[in-house]
Formats: sequence, C-alpha cells, structure tokens
Amino acid sequence: MKPRTFSAMAAACLTAIWPAGCENQPGSTGGAPPATQPAAVKVEVPKKDKYIVGFSQCTIQEPWRVQMNKDVAEAAARHPNLELRVAVADDKIDKQVNDVENFVTQGVDFLIISPKETARSLTDAVARAYQKKIPVIVLDRRVLGDQYTCFIGADNYKIGLEAGKYARELLGGKGHIVELKGNMTSTPGELRHNGFVAAIKDELASGAIRIVHDADVDWKEGKAKSEMESALAANAQIDLVYGHNDPAAHGAWMAAKDANRESKIKFIGIDALPHEGIAYVKEGVLSASLQYPTGGDKAIEVIQDMIAGREVPRTITLGTRLFTRETVASGGKAID
Ligand code: FRU
Repeated sequence: MKPRTFSAMAAACLTAIWPAGCENQPGSTGGAPPATQPAAVKVEVPKKDKYIVGFSQCTIQEPWRVQMNKDVAEAAARHPNLELRVAVADDKIDKQVNDVENFVTQGVDFLIISPKETARSLTDAVARAYQKKIPVIVLDRRVLGDQYTCFIGADNYKIGLEAGKYARELLGGKGHIVELKGNMTSTPGELRHNGFVAAIKDELASGAIRIVHDADVDWKEGKAKSEMESALAANAQIDLVYGHNDPAAHGAWMAAKDANRESKIKFIGIDALPHEGIAYVKEGVLSASLQYPTGGDKAIEVIQDMIAGREVPRTITLGTRLFTRETVASGGKAID
C-alpha cells in the first residue's frame, strides 16, 4: 500500500508553504520545501491495534530537550494505540543516523526526528526512512530537501527578529553586544542569527551597535560561560548578551557575575521554559526570553490525524511569546 497519497485538494493547496519574510531567508540552509509541494498531505496508514513510534532525539543535554522528550512521552501515553521507542544520539550525527536506521530495521510505523543539524548524512537517513514509506515528522531543526511528511517548529527567524528589536530597545539604539550562537549548522542557529541582525541592521551599518564578540557555543551553558569569560577579558564595555537559547544566556550571566559585571549587562535568551527562562526573567537574571515550544505534543497529534485518515499540513508553524520583566507576570506577550 502506498503510504502517502497527495490529496485531491493538492491543486487548491499549491500555495507557498513558507510565508514570505519568515524562515525562507536568503542564504538559509533551511531546507524549505519547494513552493510547488502541496501544503497538506493525506497519508494512507494500514489499520492496526498498535502503532510503533520511533523518536530520534539528538541530545538530552539541555533542559529544553528533556522537556521535548517529556512532551512526546506524555502525549503518546494518552493514546493506547501507540508504543513509543526513544533513542538519544548524545549530540553525535553518526549515532543519530544509526538510530534512524535501527528504527527502520525495527519496522516502526512512524518516525519522529529532532535532528542535530542539517547534515547531509542525517538528511539522507531521514529520506531513506521516508522512501521506505514510513511517515516522518521532523521536529524543531530541519533537514535539507523535502523527503519527510511533516515539519513542526516555531519561526526562528521571527524569534531572532523580536530578540533584535528588544535588544535595540534595551540599548536605546547603541551599545556593544556579545552573541552566543547555537549550532550554526542547524536551522535555528542560522535563522536566530539572521533575524537578530536584520532587526538592528541600520545600527550595525552606522556603527551605533557593534557585535564585539560572537561564538558558536552549540547551545551549551558551559561553553557559553567560557566564551563569555573571553569576551569579558577582551572588552571593557559589554552592554548586552544575546544567547540563542536560555542556557547560553544564563552561562554568560554566570561568567559576568563572577567578574562582578552582571548588573551592567542585559541578557536575552530563547526557550522560555517555566522552570528555566521564565524563572530567570522573574529572578531578574534575564531581561527577556522568547518562547520556543517543543512541538512534542503536536507531533503525536499529527500521528493520530494520520491514523484517523485526516490530511496533515506539510509545515506546522508554532507560535511564540516574548517574556520580559514587565510582561512575565501576565504570561508574556504574543508575537504575531
Ligand atoms: C536544545 C535547544 C534549545 C533550542 C533548540 C534549537 O537542544 O538548543 O535550547 O531552542 O535546541 O534547536
């Protein structure tokens, strides 16, 4: 049986999957599917009492990943027709390729993958699973091309843009920034950077705002702390740190605190987990954090839709909220 049949409505759905001005930015490795792809697909799933869902997670080194696993597991546990199998790749691309291949060998009915980065080997492993007629849901970080069923994630370009706008506001249009990037060979790292610099491009061009230090810290708090130590040693003036996630922003804050400079610097992060970024904003450690939903529950919902024979969108873009010291008590501000 063919697992995926493009919907009869495909012609009507031939609108661009990527809204202009969002993630499909010039120079992006975003792997956005071509605009000729239908916006929704219907997957034919054989009737079974139990479906095996293989979930390939790139790492659980950051709190957000732990939360994603929890969200997937809790959502799956609500459906007795699902058996969830989880493999964690410990930040290693080769291990994640093997994990995907193992799931294919095990004959899983669905694959969820949150890839480490847009690596060719991972892209190919995902494509092989998809070509074996396993419906594939890609979560959060993209692979290249269009060989998957559904992508779920928030708009990282928009999140970076909002972080940039808020940084400009906090700085009053001038100052020195340290940017602690996520993995720059992953779409969130690349797009969070692109959005941020787009928001402050006039100030960067005039020299009113300068990025005095930047580094790829691979989303890790410890690496962010040591990069910030170098930045502090080399720069007498640092006014703001933009961390591509809350662990990066918090690692930088710890380094600044050790150097007694934390009160002179503003810190912005991304993720806004209640027990992490939001708590830091409440404590006054971060000036802001932007919410980045894990999409774990949505992935299970999409699988249930496929099982029920419903069409599923090729791309599901999750929302975001800006949490600042002013808005945190009232649940943050929605970003349209
Ligand atoms: C966790 C994480 C999050 C971040 C996301 C980006 O691994 O770094 O903190 O928002 O991945 O893909």
